[in-house]
Amino acid sequence: MASVTIVGLGYVGLPLACLCAEKGMDVYGIDINKNKVDQINKGISPINDPDLIEEVRKSKGKIKAADNFQAIKNSSVVIVCVPTPVDDRHLPDLKPLKDACISISGHLKENTLVVIESTIYPGTTEEIVLPILKKSDVVFYLAHCPERIVPGNKKWTVKNLPRVVAGIDKKSTEKAYEFYKKIIDADITKLSSAKAAEAAKIMENTFRDVNIAFINEMAMSFDKAGIDILEIIKGASTKPFAFMAHYPGVGVGGHCIPVDPYYLIEKAKQIGFNHRFLSLAREINNNMPHYTVQLLEEELKKLKKGIKGAKVGVLGLAYKADVDDMRESPALKVIEVLKEKQAEVLVFDPYIREKSDVKELSTLLGKVEYIILAADHSMFRNIDIGKLKENNIKIVIDGRNCLNKEKIKKIGIAYRGIGQR
Ligand SMILES: NC(=O)c1ccc[n+]([C@@H]2O[C@H](COP(=O)([O-])OP(=O)(O)OC[C@H]3O[C@@H](n4cnc5c(N)ncnc54)[C@H](O)[C@@H]3O)[C@@H](O)[C@H]2O)c1
Repeated sequence: MASVTIVGLGYVGLPLACLCAEKGMDVYGIDINKNKVDQINKGISPINDPDLIEEVRKSKGKIKAADNFQAIKNSSVVIVCVPTPVDDRHLPDLKPLKDACISISGHLKENTLVVIESTIYPGTTEEIVLPILKKSDVVFYLAHCPERIVPGNKKWTVKNLPRVVAGIDKKSTEKAYEFYKKIIDADITKLSSAKAAEAAKIMENTFRDVNIAFINEMAMSFDKAGIDILEIIKGASTKPFAFMAHYPGVGVGGHCIPVDPYYLIEKAKQIGFNHRFLSLAREINNNMPHYTVQLLEEELKKLKKGIKGAKVGVLGLAYKADVDDMRESPALKVIEVLKEKQAEVLVFDPYIREKSDVKELSTLLGKVEYIILAADHSMFRNIDIGKLKENNIKIVIDGRNCLNKEKIKKIGIAYRGIGQR
């Protein structure tokens, strides 16, 4: 059995390490975060996901985690799952990837297969990773196999998601293909080059970003026209081909969709192409938190009130339902915009209590007059509407279109969703 080292034990690397352990491989994990390393060695998942908690518990003693790169010299396969964020100016930040590769190259042994799973712009494996690893002076194989995992998704997991894979040469492609065949119960498609595999992943996530931007724009337009976007999506979805439902909302978050398009936009710029469409999609989606606050201002105006000093409760800090992940979360932008406008803001997220202003939802309801729902956690979706009335809530802005608007309106509370009212 292969001896594998996973570099970067986060949302992507940790489930993969557990899967390799389950398949009986000799698994090493490397992460620069010592706390994570200690937790994983104790069988504790640093990520609050019920399935992953169980997987990490089962993998106790089977994943040998460390915050140094010594394990590389024991491994025939090294898989890199470090973050690929953007900086304040939305430019790709490849420092974690470069740092990881520099550390790997110092310990690489002959004939090791190195696979990059992190999402990167077309060309990164050959132009950035390869020259760093070449400094090792040993023969190695190098491939890209982008990960498609969606944290919290029970149907599609690291075990059954199909993959694309491609190396810098034929032998690298074959080696990577053979490795993933051993651990993944799904189709693995070989592409012609690492650049092609990189491009496939970036296109998948960009596809999602532009479609969400499209539906957000439709929602804002239809709202003005008095047309309910949810009804229109339902109607359009009856077409059996060429329409795919996407849903509007308070904004796009997470480490992938609001980040990856910038990688392509920047790389294309460097080689002389201007991605106008992708840039516009980013602009529209980035504006959704502002638009959501604007909806509150419109409703306040009807009550002859302003946003300054308004007591606003924000429900949710996470970027999506029932996770504790705040990366690029639109909720953070909503809070920032509200504070800029001098509203009095209180925040509650049942999954991120340490960053919440109150310990319970009921406390928040007792202290605010207006609500913006930013994450559709089950607790919020199932909120007792009667409690809103009891606490004298006057306006609900439903940033995820997940509440029962008829019930809310019936008891005399003003309601606005994204593209529906
Ligand atoms: N989160 C997702 O749903 C998802 C899905 C598909 C692909 N991806 C891609 O996978 C990559 C990893 O994403 P993630 O969500 O797992 O990130 P993450 O932040 O959850 O995990 C990355 C881990 O890498 C560690 N790390 C950072 N620099 C390091 C270094 N130099 N050496 C060793 N460890 C280092 C961090 O401490 C962290 O624990 C990104 O490129 C992302 O775009 C993410």
